[in-house]
Formats: sequence, C-alpha cells, structure tokens
Amino acid sequence: MKKLLMFTISILLICTGCTFVKADNSQGGFMDKKILIAYFSWGGNTKSIAEKIHNSVGGDIFRIETATPYPEDYNETAYGIAKKQHEEGTKPELKNNGDVSGYDIIFVGTPVWWYEPAPAVKTFLSENNFEGKTIVPFFTHGGGGKYTIAEDMAKLAKGSKVLSPLVVYGKGNSETDKEIDNRLKQIK
Ligand SMILES: Cc1cc2nc3c(=O)[nH]c(=O)nc-3n(C[C@H](O)[C@H](O)[C@H](O)COP(=O)(O)O)c2cc1C
Repeated sequence: MKKLLMFTISILLICTGCTFVKADNSQGGFMDKKILIAYFSWGGNTKSIAEKIHNSVGGDIFRIETATPYPEDYNETAYGIAKKQHEEGTKPELKNNGDVSGYDIIFVGTPVWWYEPAPAVKTFLSENNFEGKTIVPFFTHGGGGKYTIAEDMAKLAKGSKVLSPLVVYGKGNSETDKEIDNRLKQIK
C-alpha cells in the first residue's frame, strides 16, 4: 500500500514537472524574460505579425488603440487624419496607455504611416517608462521599407535598448514565418 502511494506521488510529481515545461512557451534565451508584444494595426497586417510572434515567444499581447478610432475609409484615414497627424507631429490619446513596467523585452509593432511609426505607437512609446527595457521593433509597410523607424522608436522610448527591426511587406508571404523564426533566434 505504502509502495503504491509512493508510486502515485512520484507519477504526480513527474507530471507536474512536465506541465511546467509545457506551459512555459518561451524558449532558449527568452526562458527567464518577461515578454510583451504591443502593436497598433489599422488594416490587420501588423496584427497578424504580432500574433505570429506571440505564438512563437509566448508572453502577453497588447493592442494599442486610439481613444478616437480612425475611420474605416482608407482615404479618410491615410490622406485625412493620419497625414495631418504626421505633419503636426501629433501623439493621439490612447484608449489605454498600457503598462510595460513588469516586462524585460517588449516587441513593438507598427504599420509604417507616412515614413514613421503610426502616431498611436509614438504615444505608447512616450507615455511608458522604457528605462532599462529591450525593444524589438517590427513593422509592416506598403513597399517603402524600414525608413528610420527603429531610430524614431529609440528617440521616443528613452533609456531603452532598441534591437534591429523585423520588417515585413504587407501581411507577409510564405517566407515570413521563416524570417520571424530566424529573427527570434538571433535575438535569443
Ligand atoms: C496612413 C497610412 C500611411 C502609410 N504610409 C506608408 C509609407 O509611408 N510607406 C509605406 O511603405 N507604406 C505606407 N502605408 C502602408 C502601410 O504601412 C501598410 O499597408 C501596412 O502593412 C498596414 O498595416 P496594418 O494593416 O497593420 O494597418 C501607409 C498606410 C496608411 C494607412
């Protein structure tokens, strides 16, 4: 009877250990790091990349949203509000500024909007304290490439270390998953 009890306890302990390893979605160098994936997305491209990263590295995911949503109409957003905000350097009010204080590595995602991070991402970077944090930028663009967006982010997120960005055209293609994996391996 005693033997049976010991055997059951051992099996339980082993299984608890298994669950721990399985529940920890982070791998390699991310193991002991707290990760946040924060992103803004108007049309869904950046959202899909954010979700791919989240599936690979785990951690928490946070969607950055403006207090006043952008119109659904492309021209109204792109050539109306967003262009004006770009020209005036606006940092729009957010629905929720988020909180990066409990995290070591923050993946920050944005679509390229008028050669820059989207205004909402500028607000997110300015309104949070990034002192001592590592930022991994990722962005999606419509053909213009990476511009100086990582540098723009570094200026806004004072005291942070900004790694080189993951840059994706549109919503990516069949190669994107591989690129993401390679990039994540480099970071680790
Ligand atoms: C307001 C606005 C400005 C844009 N400016 C640029 C730009 O300067 N360079 C570029 O390559 N693409 C530009 N684009 C295209 C977007 O960066 C691209 O479609 C991106 O993948 C959209 O991401 P989302 O679907 O997550 O919103 C712009 C799109 C919008 C709506």
